[in-house]
Amino acid sequence: MPTFTLTDSQQQALLAAARQARRNAYAPYSNYPVGAAVLDEMGHIHAGCNVENAAYPEGLCAEAAALSAMVLAGGRQARAVLVVGSGDGGRWITPCGGCRQKLREFGAPDLIVQSANELALGPRHTLAQLLPESFGPGHIKVR
Ligand code: THU
Repeated sequence: MPTFTLTDSQQQALLAAARQARRNAYAPYSNYPVGAAVLDEMGHIHAGCNVENAAYPEGLCAEAAALSAMVLAGGRQARAVLVVGSGDGGRWITPCGGCRQKLREFGAPDLIVQSANELALGPRHTLAQLLPESFGPGHIKVR
């Protein structure tokens, strides 16, 4: 049962930030620009875009960039993340496996992961749905 409720205005702010971030994405190799926005425990929003590299594996995902911005600003808990990708809505973006683990570091099992594109909102998942039986900080007694 989710303990955090994302308000409509928070969702709209996340959507606007992620769409704006996507416009600055650097994705000349995949032609798949992505924008992401994270809502932290203080109600602040942090955005990021994917940044690709000629050495392909060195590319950075939008979610990783948004989390980095959150940490830089002092945020330590992600309450919701909204990811904007391309597509016709038939194949909604969801975070890659590596980003699911990165979100796990700062997100509870009920972290909201909302998909979207330029036209509409897509499905909403929790982190636990996307990364079940996950390994996290508790396993190594950091928190
Ligand atoms: N990408 C993201 O930034 N986030 C995702 O959730 C999925 C994929 C990026 C990585 C790469 O730059 C491009 O999208 C195509 O995979």
